[in-house]
Amino acid sequence: MNKTILITGGAGFIGSHVVRQFVVNYPDYKIVNVDSLTYAGNLENLIDVEDAPNYIFEKVDITDRPRLRELFERHRPEGIIHLAAESHVDRSISDPLAFVNTNVIGTVNLLEEARSLWDDFEGKRFHHISTDEVFGALGEHGLFTEDTKYDPHSPYSASKASSDHFVRAYHDTYGLPIVITNCSNNYGPNHFPEKLIPLCISNILQNKPLPIYGDGRYTRDWLYVIDHARAIDLVFHRGQNASSYNIGGFNEWTNIDLVKELCKQMDEKLGREAGTSERLITYVKDRPGHDIRYAIDATKINAELGWKPSVTFQEGLSATIDWYLSNTEWLKKVTSGEYQRYYVEHYSK
Ligand code: NAD
Ligand code: DAU
Repeated sequence: MNKTILITGGAGFIGSHVVRQFVVNYPDYKIVNVDSLTYAGNLENLIDVEDAPNYIFEKVDITDRPRLRELFERHRPEGIIHLAAESHVDRSISDPLAFVNTNVIGTVNLLEEARSLWDDFEGKRFHHISTDEVFGALGEHGLFTEDTKYDPHSPYSASKASSDHFVRAYHDTYGLPIVITNCSNNYGPNHFPEKLIPLCISNILQNKPLPIYGDGRYTRDWLYVIDHARAIDLVFHRGQNASSYNIGGFNEWTNIDLVKELCKQMDEKLGREAGTSERLITYVKDRPGHDIRYAIDATKINAELGWKPSVTFQEGLSATIDWYLSNTEWLKKVTSGEYQRYYVEHYSK
């Protein structure tokens, strides 16, 4: 093994696709997946790679500094790809401190361990995975670029913005080699069914209401998760030091149009009469501080690294629905236990 890469949050939605991307494509790397397995982490997401000789799982909480220190000393990683986070905006509204602990303190713990382990920075890299939500909300026109000013509104996006600032500060102050990626909304297999697309797939299967916050005109830019994993691979290996890259699908949808499209595809795949699933759409009270529109300008990553999405939204959505239809056991398991549907508690009228 010629390189050890530590990937945090590898049992989660995006992290599991990133772990797979690296384990399969880099057999000469040792991939260490560091995850505390919160409600959102699930090792079943990695069942196909868990026996690979270049893969190791470590159940460690990134807020636990002594455990992290021991882990860094034992594995001595040259690269860190940091995805572990509390990721759901609605949960951040009810429990902001959990987001400060993992997203801010946990990130600084990792930066500190990297700083103390790395005597020289040759061949080292700390890749921080961030979000377009740090840029705040767009009006009707325009796109987020890498130069857009940070303007977070939710406790989640404020915690991610804070962690981005710490990552940059460790470069500017200590010279730590870093790179940051800010991505738009992901969708695809293994997405926890509290987020809009998997929640609606799950509810359609159970004939439950499809909750649409506010008037449903909020807009998001959707990217297939495997295309995000490919982008992370490129930026980790070839991105410029101390730089940031926006990643997005050039694929904007209002929530209501997206859910209607999902209903249409679900009816076809389930052999239900057209319009059956749409009748489940239920408008509910809005999310507080709801950002009206996100959209990414992905010109830089395309021009510098040649990245572009590999699937259309129709293809990606169809593959995603097929995955959920073939993995109903997964859906059942992850929705038992600690999982709660926060919208019921906070937003239903
Ligand atoms: P997720 O909630 O599905 O997974 C998060 C993972 O982190 C889980 O496996 C969880 O067990 C782990 N984790 C949480 N707290 C931890 C802790 N204290 N110590 C160790 N592990 C911990 O999240 P996701 O949607 O896959 O997002 C991954 C990253 O990508 C996050 O940093 C998120 O901010 C960012 N991101 C997500 C999206 C999106 O659309 N989902 C878009 C852009 C950026
Ligand atoms: O933009 C990137 C971000 O995308 C990531 O950083 C976050 O980790 C990820 O969770 C996601 O955040 P959103 O808040 O955009 O995703 P969510 O799926 O929660 O909501 C998408 C849109 O759908 C948003 O406008 C809120 C709305 N919504 C959501 C849910 C769960 C509804 O109308 N009804 C719902 O039940």
